[in-house]
Amino acid sequence: MVRATDNANPPLTLAQIDTDRDVRIPVPIAEFSRVLGGGLVPGSLILLGGEPGIGKSTLVLELSAQLARERGNVLYVSGEESARQIKLRADRLGLSAERLYLLAETDLEAIIDHTRALEPKLLVIDSIQTTRDAALNSSPGLIAQVRHCATKLQELAKTGGLSILLIGHVTKDGHIAGPRVLEHIVDAVLYLEGDPFQHYRLLRSVKNRFGATNEVGVFEMRGRGLVQVANPSEAFLEERLINAAGSAIAITMEGSRPLLVEMQALTSPSAFGNPRRTPNGVDVNRLLLIAAVLSKRLGLKLWEQDIFVNVIGGLRISEPAADLAMAMAIVSSYYDRALPADLAIVGEVGLSGEVRRASQLDARLNEARKIGFKRALVPKLRPHANGLPAEAQLIQVRTVSEALRAVLSPETGSRGTSG
Ligand code: TYD
Ligand code: MG
Repeated sequence: MVRATDNANPPLTLAQIDTDRDVRIPVPIAEFSRVLGGGLVPGSLILLGGEPGIGKSTLVLELSAQLARERGNVLYVSGEESARQIKLRADRLGLSAERLYLLAETDLEAIIDHTRALEPKLLVIDSIQTTRDAALNSSPGLIAQVRHCATKLQELAKTGGLSILLIGHVTKDGHIAGPRVLEHIVDAVLYLEGDPFQHYRLLRSVKNRFGATNEVGVFEMRGRGLVQVANPSEAFLEERLINAAGSAIAITMEGSRPLLVEMQALTSPSAFGNPRRTPNGVDVNRLLLIAAVLSKRLGLKLWEQDIFVNVIGGLRISEPAADLAMAMAIVSSYYDRALPADLAIVGEVGLSGEVRRASQLDARLNEARKIGFKRALVPKLRPHANGLPAEAQLIQVRTVSEALRAVLSPETGSRGTSG
């Protein structure tokens, strides 16, 4: 009698397990590769989500063409556009690749058959919401259909040893049947985000079974597609006005990458009793908290002021380490006094107005120095903090009021050029 335990899948020790099978296919677009954790893992299923029109098809078509040129067959299946439309886009992007195959198809069985015949290194499904298995009596885009198709494609990826990239549309509220319901099925989840009215796009990994999460790649939407931004901090600061009141430079971390971004604030007297808080690129609750702390601890009369906060470049900042920069931007606008132009800021603000430490200060300060910021406003360091750049000129503060005195005292501040 054959028992279940006699099968060919015995338990193995760590040393017996061969990790060479996870060899990654390098992705020609470095920023994409970085977000994937170093390349495509054969047999993996990846989800790329984003709002309609943000540039998913553009980015993936570029990736497909480059991969086809360097690595082998790539099959790009679109249920949204005709093969002709995709070809027109490829022409516009200046892409050509002999081994890139286009297929306008929504039927899952047909897609699987073509994939088996073509044996591509990468299969792209644009989008998972337009794909449908006739065997399942449900419309494309509905949760059951989306989940069923993704599960079948996962089997295909595993058995065929190819990578599959699913594109999925998400709306702002994330309520659509799609990417959200797939996050636990797929191996990696990437999101392409950005303000549609601005040209920067961030590719972010929120889940990755084969690498670090929260890595970001930075792109710029140009006339000829999405172009990698090699030095994002410099790019984000390009249009900065020196000596403008209400502007502060935050040193944030996106995954393992430090980024310098400009945060702007504008305070202006409220027209009607109820002051407005308008954040763009930061969480509204974070803004409310900072405004409350500044009112209570520094005595700013923010209850009669509207406050607008804007992160330049269309970036969304979620880490609390950007609090102090936001606070200083607001204070700077309130007093109409510019912060020193060579000052970068990092630190979390607590409810008592205390400035808390942020992770990876050394990496942050190195980036700031690289971009040319000579001084940094930072939380009070531990007595023997090491690993920090020796030449960094640090202004250490324990509270927001110390921060205010340090950067807006008569010697350091200058009168704003705006407002
Ligand atoms: P697209 O990739 O179709 O978005 P998605 O697949 O996420 O819905 O890109 C949509 C926008 O990008 C479209 O409004 C036009 C713009 N775009 C450019 O600015 N430059 C380009 O080279 C291309 C192809 C598109
Ligand atoms: Mg598209």
